[in-house]
Amino acid sequence: MKQTTVVPVLALLIAALAVVVVTGLAPPPDYTTREDENSYFIQQVGMFAVNVYKMGHMCQMYYKYTVECWSKPAGGGANYYWMVLTATNSTGAVGQYVSTVWGIPGSESKTWKLLSFSCTS
Ligand SMILES: *[C@@H]1O[C@H](CO)[C@@H](O)[C@H](O)[C@H]1NC(C)=O
Repeated sequence: MKQTTVVPVLALLIAALAVVVVTGLAPPPDYTTREDENSYFIQQVGMFAVNVYKMGHMCQMYYKYTVECWSKPAGGGANYYWMVLTATNSTGAVGQYVSTVWGIPGSESKTWKLLSFSCTS
């Protein structure tokens, strides 16, 4: 009887571990608000991050989509956004990148700031 209950639990644990390995990335602990990564707004924030990085580094990159995004209040109506996004580089290869952005929702993109951008692979 014991054996039959242990096996499904183990299978669940293995499945959970596999999910952690695939995603691999967690937001910093203070980023507690989950954003809707499919929303137009969050897609715009992701595109902003790629475009600013691309201009600063003179490289060919194309934003594809945001995998996940979390935010934390920055004061003055602004938020910090931490996101995992995908983009293609000059070889056309799709890579995953982690970026943090500061900005006030609804404000012009020129007031937004790219704080960090790095390749995860
Ligand atoms: C392009 O992205 C792929 C996947 O992330 C990576 O392996 C490759 O080194 C990158 N190439 C350049 C030129 O950045």
